[in-house]
Amino acid sequence: MKAQAILETAQALVAGDKGLLAMDESTPTCDRRFAALGIPQTDEARRAYRELIVTTPNLGRCISGAILYDQTIHQETEAGIPFVKVLIDAGIIPGIKVDAGAKDLAGHPGEKVTEGLDGLRERLAQYAQMGARFAKWRAVIAVGNGIPSRGCIEANAQALARYAALCQEAGLVPVVEPEVLMDGDHTLARCAQITEEVLRAVFGQLAAQGVMLEAMILKPNMVVPGLACGTQPTADEVADATVKCLLRAVPAAVPGIAFLSGGQPSELASARLNAMNVRFKTRVPWALAFSFARAIQQPAMEIWRGEASNVPAAQQALFHRADCNRAARRGEYTAKMENA
Ligand code: 13P
Repeated sequence: MKAQAILETAQALVAGDKGLLAMDESTPTCDRRFAALGIPQTDEARRAYRELIVTTPNLGRCISGAILYDQTIHQETEAGIPFVKVLIDAGIIPGIKVDAGAKDLAGHPGEKVTEGLDGLRERLAQYAQMGARFAKWRAVIAVGNGIPSRGCIEANAQALARYAALCQEAGLVPVVEPEVLMDGDHTLARCAQITEEVLRAVFGQLAAQGVMLEAMILKPNMVVPGLACGTQPTADEVADATVKCLLRAVPAAVPGIAFLSGGQPSELASARLNAMNVRFKTRVPWALAFSFARAIQQPAMEIWRGEASNVPAAQQALFHRADCNRAARRGEYTAKMENA
């Protein structure tokens, strides 16, 4: 029963031309983004912002699933409707971030390991009861002098696989997110090499833990150079490097790949996803989709700035970004959409 349900959920998350919306920023991360825009860092401001997102008109046309944060999954609209119900009524599958964040990895300066396995079985059961049908766990891999180490890659891959197995046991689809960070001056080629090594390790561990690949979603970084790298590639070059890497490391049984945006400018993330679908959509075994946070939310947050009167314009901006990424899934995104 559970196996059939998670197979169907995984398919639904990447069906057609829709994608995921990550709105699962932890309180410190959300507050950091609010502070940069002069928005008060209060419980009520965070709740109001999440209400703005989930009540965006027609969001379900573009978004298949939304990833919530623990505090958010317990919240409701000002009118008293639980966010989970608002999402379900909009045709959006509720999901939940279940990791406890990336912590310093002992003995490995500059590297992190994601924690949160203790008590995870019990938490997953509670989230499933609250209506969540999928979950997310993010591992971060920093690139630098001599890093990532094998120890960091293996520790994170094993945690991702143990999380994924627990999710499937609980009837939730695991979104498996190993993120190679964009910080640094590394080249596109180095990102490709590290991303491939990380994905190979992750899929080795997923196999070791008996995770059903057909009932999971991979959420990787695109293969891009570091932000401080002198040479920045075209969208086509990113598409080629990314798909080449995925073809080498991701089994065909996985139904969908939903990229994170990782701090890329919104329009660039859409253009790169579009290039992948233009060039490879009919030639790859998995859906090439999106699971963006910043690349969907950022323009809306900048318009909202904590003011109720800005909500309609912010919602329009949020819908626009979701719609651009939906077009990118079809390979039909153009810069003209930005001026329309
Ligand atoms: P970004 O798209 O902002 O990278 O966030 C995706 C995400 O969910 C990170 O865990």
